[in-house]
Amino acid sequence: MSEQQSTAGAVQRAAEALRAAIGMAPKTAIVLGSGLGGLADAIEQPVYAPYAGLPGFAVSTAPGHTGRFVAGKLAGKPVLCMQGRLHFYEGHSMQDIAFPVRVMKAAGVENLLLTNAAGGVNNGFSVGDLMLIEDHINFMGKNPLTGPNDEAIGPRFCDMSTAYTPALREIALAVAAEQGIPLQRGVYLGYMGPSYETPAEIRAFRLLGADAVGMSTVPEVIAAAHCGLRVLAVSLITNLAAGMAGKLSGEDVIETANRKAAVLQELITGILAKL
Ligand code: HPA
Repeated sequence: MSEQQSTAGAVQRAAEALRAAIGMAPKTAIVLGSGLGGLADAIEQPVYAPYAGLPGFAVSTAPGHTGRFVAGKLAGKPVLCMQGRLHFYEGHSMQDIAFPVRVMKAAGVENLLLTNAAGGVNNGFSVGDLMLIEDHINFMGKNPLTGPNDEAIGPRFCDMSTAYTPALREIALAVAAEQGIPLQRGVYLGYMGPSYETPAEIRAFRLLGADAVGMSTVPEVIAAAHCGLRVLAVSLITNLAAGMAGKLSGEDVIETANRKAAVLQELITGILAKL
């Protein structure tokens, strides 16, 4: 997508197509990370809108990512779910990655709940831990807001001080406490990929203040902050980062995500019930 296509007009056209396809306007959207797409299967009375059928959408090629919206009810609440997301490492532009976020906002979404699979950088983390993202470090070398800015979408210079909405973080912590779900908190560092980090990079990222590392989420959160969405993001620690344990593989990440997805789904469902 060219920068010019990511205008309020293109966003509106896609939002209208999405609304027509799903026939509802949920206030909460969920983005499902690698190996975490199973939550979409729990949605009742699901209606599907494949990205490929919507104007202006790029299509996800990443393993474990289906590439469609699923709308319906979860925890009794209407939700819109992105089953599969776009990654920078697939060759998509940052603007392509921002586009669905803007479309969801234009379609009536107010809260964006993001999930991802991430490597644990914090020495206190274990495989299978959940981490509430409190802040991020953009180490991807690009920002989705570069290029012409459409003021109808958001401001030229976007404040990121509270991109991870404090009120939603409070809800997540309360739900985790109520349900007895251990929830770490920390800083997510966005890495371009698709190679995993080197052990030296992980040591450097730890010094920078990163607790987890992954290849998504950061562009979406920047786009969400820009267009005024409330954001909650949770990482599932699928592995300890490079140099901390064994070798890394994408298959192992997805296998662990699939195996540990249930507790993240429980947390997300509990949060939804309170929104
Ligand atoms: N690094 C980057 N991305 C990831 C990792 C990792 O260790 N695990 C899951 N996604």
